[in-house]
This record gives sequence, structure tokens and C-alpha cells, in this order.
Amino acid sequence: MEVIITKNYDEMSKKAAQIIANQIQKKPDTVLGLATGSTPLGTYQELIRLNREEGLDFSKVTTFNLDEYLGLSPLHKESYNYFMWENLFKHININPENVYIPKGDVQDAEEFCRCYEEKIKEVGGIDLQLLGIGSDGHIAFNEPGSSLMSRTRVKTLDEQTIKDNARFFTKEEEVPRFAITMGVGTILEAKKILLIANGEKKADACAQFIEGPVTSQITASALQLHQHVTVVLDEGAASKLKRIKYYNWIRNNKHLVQKYLGR
Ligand code: GLP
Repeated sequence: MEVIITKNYDEMSKKAAQIIANQIQKKPDTVLGLATGSTPLGTYQELIRLNREEGLDFSKVTTFNLDEYLGLSPLHKESYNYFMWENLFKHININPENVYIPKGDVQDAEEFCRCYEEKIKEVGGIDLQLLGIGSDGHIAFNEPGSSLMSRTRVKTLDEQTIKDNARFFTKEEEVPRFAITMGVGTILEAKKILLIANGEKKADACAQFIEGPVTSQITASALQLHQHVTVVLDEGAASKLKRIKYYNWIRNNKHLVQKYLGR
């Protein structure tokens, strides 16, 4: 796991966007896994800028979103579908046919989840998965206690997540109790993973998932089992890490790391 500590939200966002842009430049038909929440907003803004000003081409890119609230139609203003179109897709040259987001108002959720997994396989798997992290250490909507082998399914949301996400709704009671989410096992099959986090409210979760034991109580800790994970944090989110010096040394000596590790 490579840990990159940036000064602030802006630097975190630009670094993350650069990693995604490099991936698209290397493989124009990249399959991206995408996340919602306030954390990736700056990353998406930078990707929009790269598309408009520097010609970053999304025309062959395919995307799969991690999750969606169950019970919200794709047009609902708080749906993740609406979020993605408003904050990224409508501003870039992506082909709408290549955009996949779980459908919150689907009749048969179980069948839908099975097809979602199939579709990911059909396109050859996810090349680069972008993740945020919940304050309870969850990735996508894999709440504490989720199986680390889990697949795309319906998940009951934790009280903490409902509280955290209530800020996007008029009142807490409006936050759906259930969501469709890629499983931890699904996420671990992505070829590369990029997790971003900012602010002190994420510091405990980051310390636990990076430096603590692998546990289903902090589902992000399963990323320790993956071979190619990059974590980009701002100073707030990194503030409870014990090995900051080590991570910074690696960042400042990238030429040596590249020479000996080849990445
Ligand atoms: C939700 C999403 C996660 C996201 C998390 C953090 O629970 N399902 O994918 O990482 O919120 O959101 P934020 O970035 O707003 O802190």
C-alpha cells in the first residue's frame, strides 16, 4: 500500500485526478470504478478541467459506480446517479452507454446485483477503482461486519452512516435505510485501487485501515490484502498515522523507489 500525504484537499484532489488521468492515457478504454460523497468532488472537478483544457479523452472509458441508495429513482436529487451526472458525466465526453450505476428503484434487486457483477466481468474487470471512506471505516456501503468476500448486494446502512449522510437530505428520516453496493470481494478484484480521504473526521478510520489489523469491523482494512493500492490523504486524515515519516520518505525519494521497485 502506497500512502501519499498531501498538504490539503486541493493537493489531494489533483494528485488523485492525475493518477486517474495517467491510467486513461495509458489505456484509453480503461474501466473505472467510481465513488460518490463529498471527498471525490475536487477530483472530479480536476478531471473535468483535464478533459476541457488538456484533452483528456473519456470517449472510450467505461465506468461502474460503487453503490446507490435503494428506493431512490435515478432522477432523485439525492441519488448517486444524479450526483454522478451533475458532478462529472455531463461535463466530460463520456459515452452514456458506457456508464453503469446501480439502479435504486429496481424491482428485483437480487437479480440486478447478479447482472451488475456479470457486466463487470464481461468488460474485463475494473482497471482502477476510486474509493472514499466512511467515518466508520466502510468502503462503498460495506458497513462494519460485512464479509470481506462479499459481492454486489443489498446492505442495511449503519446508524453512523445515516447520520453522516443526513447532511445531503432535508432530514435524517429521509436517508434510505438500504443500499445496493459492490461487495468488498468485488472491490478487491479491481486491478488497482485508489482511496482518497480528507479531514480530521477521517483520521481514526484511516489509521485503523492502514496500520491496524485486517477486520470486517473496518472494511477498508481489506485493502491490505490487495497488491496495488494507493492511498492519497490530506494532513488532517493522516494525522493519526504512526508511520508518517516512512510514507513521506518514500514520497520524497520516488526516484529510488522507481529504480528498485519499478513503480
Ligand atoms: C458514503 C458512500 C461511500 C463514501 C462515504 C464517505 O457512505 N457510500 O462511498 O466513501 O459516503 O463520504 P464523504 O466523502 O462524503 O465523506
